[in-house]
Amino acid sequence: MAGAPTGTARSDVMKGAEMADVKLDGISKIYPNGFRAVTELSLELIEGEFLVLVGPSGCGKSTTLRMIAGLEEISSGDLYVGERRVNDVLPKDRDIAMVFQNYALYPQMTVAENIGFPLRLRKVRKADRRTKVEEVAQILELTEQLDKKPGKLSGGQRQRVAMGRAIVRQPSLFLMDEPLSNLDAKLRVQMRADIASIQRELGVTTFYVTHDQVEAMTMGDRVAVIKDGYLQQVASPESLYDEPDNVFVAAFIGSPSMNLFEGVVLEDGERLAVEFGDQRLALDPKVLSVRPALRSYIGKRVVVGMRPEDMEDAAVVPDHPADQRIEVEIDVREALGAETVMHFWLAANPVDSGDPDALDELGSENESRCTARFSPDSRVQPGDHIQVSVATEKMHFFDTATHLAIRS
Ligand SMILES: Nc1ncnc2c1ncn2[C@@H]1O[C@H](COP(=O)(O)OP(=O)(O)O)[C@@H](O)[C@H]1O
Ligand SMILES: [Mg+2]
Repeated sequence: MAGAPTGTARSDVMKGAEMADVKLDGISKIYPNGFRAVTELSLELIEGEFLVLVGPSGCGKSTTLRMIAGLEEISSGDLYVGERRVNDVLPKDRDIAMVFQNYALYPQMTVAENIGFPLRLRKVRKADRRTKVEEVAQILELTEQLDKKPGKLSGGQRQRVAMGRAIVRQPSLFLMDEPLSNLDAKLRVQMRADIASIQRELGVTTFYVTHDQVEAMTMGDRVAVIKDGYLQQVASPESLYDEPDNVFVAAFIGSPSMNLFEGVVLEDGERLAVEFGDQRLALDPKVLSVRPALRSYIGKRVVVGMRPEDMEDAAVVPDHPADQRIEVEIDVREALGAETVMHFWLAANPVDSGDPDALDELGSENESRCTARFSPDSRVQPGDHIQVSVATEKMHFFDTATHLAIRS
């Protein structure tokens, strides 16, 4: 696995700690009121990896994490840490450490005492405690802060102290539930990098929960997308982005979101084309070689997906094939410096991806909102009627009924 640490690279702080694979085998949660929060979730965490579980608010992320921690009973399915089935093992005996969103530190204790607290509970000798705390503080760059009280620390430092308290116990698994959501945007970006690098240094298997797809994509070795308690796809950030298995994942991962609308597949000599409204887009032959099953959709409606960066002002790329262009009227232009984001409408039915946060962005019948990322060289202005080149080999196609990707 790319980025996964090897045993020898692992920091000394974790020496002697048990590392373990973690396996969720068809785990479900039905709350006492009958609500089904998680359904038959199967996931494997590979030793040492950073796995992120991401999905909209209320989709069962915390429930899943709490079942792993032992704070919530598992209704059905099996949970393994290493070879051991731990469904009925008490939280304190699971060898798991949690970092919560509300990182409660003891205000009257120093940073050193806060970090060392779990060791004191375990009756570790004072001198050994001090050595361990110093090791941990060094990794977290908290050495200078060890004698201070939490009240004197910045938000980011307090967050690292909370991590220190988890690390010092040498758990075989870290669980983190939206640990950055209380931090301001700038600090969040900094801590994102810090946590990822500390995790890599320690090499502890980590299960990280967030609703923020950017956080998921930047931090995870692999990312698991969940919706309404059902797992949608688990893959590396790159393959989630390039090869989403269904419409929900396609829309949820990426910002601005993938444009999704309905079109009809047509035969165009040896090749295929897709038609929507009064537009016809010839498809690069690569489309059929990657998605041979698209041939069986000739004459049928499909869900078409185009990422914003796969469209460009045709004036900027004059060599792009003329039959792989659409004609649009620019509605809004946002110049961001490195790129210009263009908004326009397509005469095509919009598609509801099922992401509750995306609903207000949907157009109405035969009117789909579309976003493109143009090069800053584009001189196009709102109101202009222009041609847009589409990298058709990068287009996505999904079945209208199942919302599953059309591949082989
Ligand atoms: N104790 C509970 N009893 C009944 N329903 C619950 C309980 N806890 C959470 N839920 C529901 O389960 C769903 C998943 O919750 P949660 O796992 O907290 O979602 P997330 O962390 O993804 O935002 C939500 O609809 C929530 O309202
Ligand atoms: Mg939650």
